[in-house]
Amino acid sequence: MPHNASHPTPWWENGAVYQIYPRSFQDSNGDGVGDLAGIESRLDYVATLGVDAIWLSPIFPSPMADFGYDVADYCDVDPLFGDLAAFDSLLAAAHASGLRVILDFVPNHSSDQHPWFVESRSSRDNSKRDWYIWRDARPDGSPPNNWTSDFGGSSWEWDAGTEQYYLHAFLKEQPDLNWHNLDVRAAMMDVLRFWLERGVDGFRIDVLWHIIKAQGLPDNPPNPDYGPHLGERDKVLQTNSTDQPETHDISAAFRALADEYGERVLIGEIFLPNDRLCAYYGTPHRPEIHLPFNFALLENAWDARGLARIIADYEAALPPGGWPNWVIGSHDAPRIAARLGEAQARVAAMLLLTLRGTPTLYQGDELGIGEVTISQDRLRDPRELREPGLGLGRDRSRTPMPWDGSPHAGFSKVEPWLPLSDDWVKRSVAAQQGDTGSMLAHYRKLLALRREYPALAIGDYLGVAVQDDVLAFERRHGKERLLIALNLGDHECPISLPPGTSIADILHSTLSPRPFGGGLRRDEGLILLLEGTS
Ligand code: NOJ
Repeated sequence: MPHNASHPTPWWENGAVYQIYPRSFQDSNGDGVGDLAGIESRLDYVATLGVDAIWLSPIFPSPMADFGYDVADYCDVDPLFGDLAAFDSLLAAAHASGLRVILDFVPNHSSDQHPWFVESRSSRDNSKRDWYIWRDARPDGSPPNNWTSDFGGSSWEWDAGTEQYYLHAFLKEQPDLNWHNLDVRAAMMDVLRFWLERGVDGFRIDVLWHIIKAQGLPDNPPNPDYGPHLGERDKVLQTNSTDQPETHDISAAFRALADEYGERVLIGEIFLPNDRLCAYYGTPHRPEIHLPFNFALLENAWDARGLARIIADYEAALPPGGWPNWVIGSHDAPRIAARLGEAQARVAAMLLLTLRGTPTLYQGDELGIGEVTISQDRLRDPRELREPGLGLGRDRSRTPMPWDGSPHAGFSKVEPWLPLSDDWVKRSVAAQQGDTGSMLAHYRKLLALRREYPALAIGDYLGVAVQDDVLAFERRHGKERLLIALNLGDHECPISLPPGTSIADILHSTLSPRPFGGGLRRDEGLILLLEGTS
């Protein structure tokens, strides 16, 4: 496949990833839920956006207790989404459009309906018993330890049939696999092989840092910062239930397997501080994950000084050869435009697409989908339903893509599984398509600039001292120098150019074009091409 042949770097280093949440992208068969044929029918849109790869949230057979993150068969496609033939067709069409395809691999847990778990819970002496994590109750009948599920309540579920508890880091319908068991590892390697042989270009690995638990399953320490405003997950620190040293053996094994197939990328979902996050790159002798997801922009306040420090700290934490990456939205996080408002969401897009490293975009953010109201009777996310009112729900980030002004926004012929966002008529692709000032045009322009200027795609990053509310940095590649200046505040701010430079061109503004007057308007971000004057 011809692909940015001018850069001798792996495709994911100069590419951008676009996350598709298949349930909400495009329905092709009129059941109100998106599917693979629907995605295939919209590939032109994705390719012309200017991204390089699509990552599909899980498409595998699933009872959908956690909307696909409860997998009942790792080597097939849920009928809701299509079948293996539909997947092969999508993969071929994506490749023909110059798009790579990344699947979501969910190794920490399966569905409780997976035949492995059905066998495992059938009796204590079943050969698959040890594929999951079973323990006796404490003498008083309580769970074996104090671990709490990410979705609230104990991480342990009592099985009356075999009179033991099993572990689940998420829902009870998502039992954790026992990665200390070598047969589990071998079976999961076969899963990866199955899809690699089919031609997928990589995997996003779900909750990678969870897969190994400390031997003996000791209690987790209480979280001193816990309060009732937090979900029950945060009652304890996940010291013994996550990020164990042996996890690195497993990610190195995933990598060794991926490397057998040429340029295939591994992206790890990992929420950890920089030092422990960056350990998942591995070492030159034992490489691990190409892109351990960096969620820093999602997790920190929107403030120039703080963000400058976060970027510098992350850059400093990267191991030699470790390629950075940045995320600003996902199916789990609040919409960026809801969090920051439209004007700063445009600044955020400019930041995401000009920082050094692979950006991951989430479907719909390029349309500026923001606040969404969902009535009580239409809430679907088990996280919200189990711990209501804490703002943990994820439905508002999962509403269907609005394509045009027809009923149901061109997403489906029937009422979709989740409602559309309130402002879908003005946010639709059709409404924004011809408008050069739209959020969609802004994303397209930014992605086009990444392809045009190697300084943006693969250049060095040089921080510039923060002045007022302005976050600024340079990207450099050879003689090419770009200054990115972002005003995160609500008043005009001056900017100073690096010594010995002048502006050769204003490549893009988050606001309407105008001659440069030495400063940034409120909410303005600029990309300036510099030239040397000395
Ligand atoms: C992370 C996924 O992104 C999220 O949607 C899911 O609920 C959990 N992992 C459990 O698989």
